Amino acid sequence: MADFHIEKTSTPTPADQREALLKDPKFGRVFTDHMVVIRYVEGQGWHDAKVVPRGPLSIDPASTVLHYGQEIFEGLKAYRGKNGDITLFRPGANAARFAASARRLAMAELPEDLFMGAIENLLKVDRDWVPQGSDQSLYLRPFMISNEVFLGVKRANEYLFVLLASPVGAYFSSGCVSVWVSDEYTRAAIGGTGEAKCGGNYASSLVPQQEAAEKGCDQVLFLDARERRYVDEMGGMNVMFVHKDGSVVTPPLSGAILRGITRDSLLKLGRKMGLTMREEPIAIDDVFAGAASGEIVEAFACGTAAVVSPIGSFHRASGDEARFGDGKTAGPVALRLREALSNVQRGEAEDSFHWV
Ligand code: COI
Repeated sequence: MADFHIEKTSTPTPADQREALLKDPKFGRVFTDHMVVIRYVEGQGWHDAKVVPRGPLSIDPASTVLHYGQEIFEGLKAYRGKNGDITLFRPGANAARFAASARRLAMAELPEDLFMGAIENLLKVDRDWVPQGSDQSLYLRPFMISNEVFLGVKRANEYLFVLLASPVGAYFSSGCVSVWVSDEYTRAAIGGTGEAKCGGNYASSLVPQQEAAEKGCDQVLFLDARERRYVDEMGGMNVMFVHKDGSVVTPPLSGAILRGITRDSLLKLGRKMGLTMREEPIAIDDVFAGAASGEIVEAFACGTAAVVSPIGSFHRASGDEARFGDGKTAGPVALRLREALSNVQRGEAEDSFHWV
């Protein structure tokens, strides 16, 4: 494992203040005292790996990322189990997806041992920030930007990797989310960057997300870019539907949607629990018809941040609503899957897939 230089802050957050911050941290608003930075220069490779006090980065205004958006990120969590042990869930899968995103954006790939080393070294100095609450965890946000001082459009020859850590509670404040179906905007086309976890995908989701908020919804759902007929994914998470026979269906990995690690874990865990888990195209009209007829009885969002978040209703510009039950109560399959996943993540259930 690469050596990380560790420079601890001279002004750590006092323990009583940290404990107060850990009581009810809002998603992405609270940060630990340190961060990891690693540099890459063509010809020198990755070097200068260090843990430093968290603070602003100094970036030249001509830095390539500010102009052409070569940026990728990941999201994973460290959990504190009942016995106090800290666990990580499938970090190797995040390292592999980070490398795949880097390839799609023509960026330097960060080797897996540096990705893991960054997490281990940050957790060494900031381990007291991993919260204990049952819905809580330390959200880890690795990201990489291109950082060459140059205005030409080409693959940059310098990169900066940074790892931040942020204690979090539940992503959604309400128990059941409402979802706006975007008929006008799409997220990504096949052949585009939909499979990469790059900032641009999320930037383009903001106008439709705003539209969702204006319609009183928590999240946006995108349809496929070619026909606007099939369900793709939500603004920052995958989506699954439960049929009345108990089978769970999610859109297949078309190349346009994110290869969600939570999505993959639920498919595997669900099968182990005896559920039928299918990956197949889902027409949005069938979701509305299925909710009305009782064929589809539940829907839920899934992702690292969202975990498993039950969806109460979908809404469209036509005025149609697809509601599950009273639109406010989580369905039993979503709850079962969430509990099973969260028990594995916290080291409180058998880890038969060796994920922890
Ligand atoms: C995650 O679930 O880690 C995500 O990346 C979603 C996020 C954009 C909050």
